[in-house]
Amino acid sequence: MLAGKRILLIIGGGIAAYKSLDLIRRLRERGAAVTPVLTRAGAEFVTPLSVSALAGEKVHTDLFDLTDEAEMGHIQLSRVADLVVVAPATADLMAKMAHGHANDLASTLLMATDTPVLMAPAMNVRMWEHPATQRNLAQLQADGLHVVGPNAGDMACGEYGPGRMSEPLEIVAAIETALGQGPLAGKRILVTSGPTHEPIDPVRYIANRSSGAQGTAIARALAALGAEVVFVTGPADVPPPQGVQVVRVETAEQMLTAVEAALPADAAVFAAAVADWRVASSSGSKIKKDAGRLPVLDFAENPDILATVSQRKTDRPRLVVGFAAETDDVIANATAKRARKGCDWIVANDVSPATGIMGGTENAVHLITAEGREDWPRMSKQQVATQLAARIAQALG
Ligand code: C5P
Repeated sequence: MLAGKRILLIIGGGIAAYKSLDLIRRLRERGAAVTPVLTRAGAEFVTPLSVSALAGEKVHTDLFDLTDEAEMGHIQLSRVADLVVVAPATADLMAKMAHGHANDLASTLLMATDTPVLMAPAMNVRMWEHPATQRNLAQLQADGLHVVGPNAGDMACGEYGPGRMSEPLEIVAAIETALGQGPLAGKRILVTSGPTHEPIDPVRYIANRSSGAQGTAIARALAALGAEVVFVTGPADVPPPQGVQVVRVETAEQMLTAVEAALPADAAVFAAAVADWRVASSSGSKIKKDAGRLPVLDFAENPDILATVSQRKTDRPRLVVGFAAETDDVIANATAKRARKGCDWIVANDVSPATGIMGGTENAVHLITAEGREDWPRMSKQQVATQLAARIAQALG
């Protein structure tokens, strides 16, 4: 609950500004007061009237508004809140913040404030990935700003990738976290993600098609609820989320070592697609092509990280969640897997090529617990993650 909290909400100029109108409603539903600030560019996307009507307060737009200066100077305005939220945080606003510009009301407030700041970036994927934006992001994080999102997905500009502003409820969760109120505050959660690479020799390896998208989304969703997340990731296609402790590994054996080093934890989610086998005697030097002679690879079984942690006598997390990616008899196989590995929950999905799930943006999962099974409708991997994180928060109570 956000009762009694005041949020200074700076709405930047981007198409995602429409979501900030909903954000205002969600904040007020939870008892927060919202002081809105609309940048000149923001006012091209949403009207001051909509913003002030939803906030139930005057919207501030101009640095040199004499009435405001008489009633409340911009310095004071920057200090009234428990948290400053910038949503959408455009590339331009991020650049201004990172470089300390103060040439309009929003940037001046951000320079003058002594309260924590949370930003929800939203921009075209190329702008987000531009080295300048990534430099600014790194600087802002080093300065202690909280960041939520952006999410990956279809964008209003017709492109695809990271750059979509987080959904209003994700921003609300991040606000609660920034105010130390997330339901997973004080909980430490371990998440494995991505594929593993098992070397054949120094330049060749065996891998699988896991992108790391689902594990990354889960880590992000858990962090958004306030958990301290240790994210142990193999070489994934997608970048790790903000605000988590990242441990990069290559092989299954390295992943097990990293996981054991991260214990104790309150919960562990094993979303990695760990290779079942490694090359038993991988070559220390590059195997030479020898005309007419084919190399023979002998395999050894990799440690089962999920089973190892589930069956630990000491330091077993209270809740251990495994995944089952199946192409046949999904439920029967996943139910058997839960018993065999000794974990508490299995998130099962059908990864037959026809489903488009492996490497795609959507997922259709079944949650298998001691109580039975739930079939979740097909939804984005981010939504699966949000729902799973909420269930984990409930279970850790
Ligand atoms: O046995 P299978 O690979 O189908 O089980 C999948 C689950 O087990 C996933 O949660 C995966 O992260 C985990 N796993 C593991 N270590 C392995 C193999 C799978 O942690 N060596």
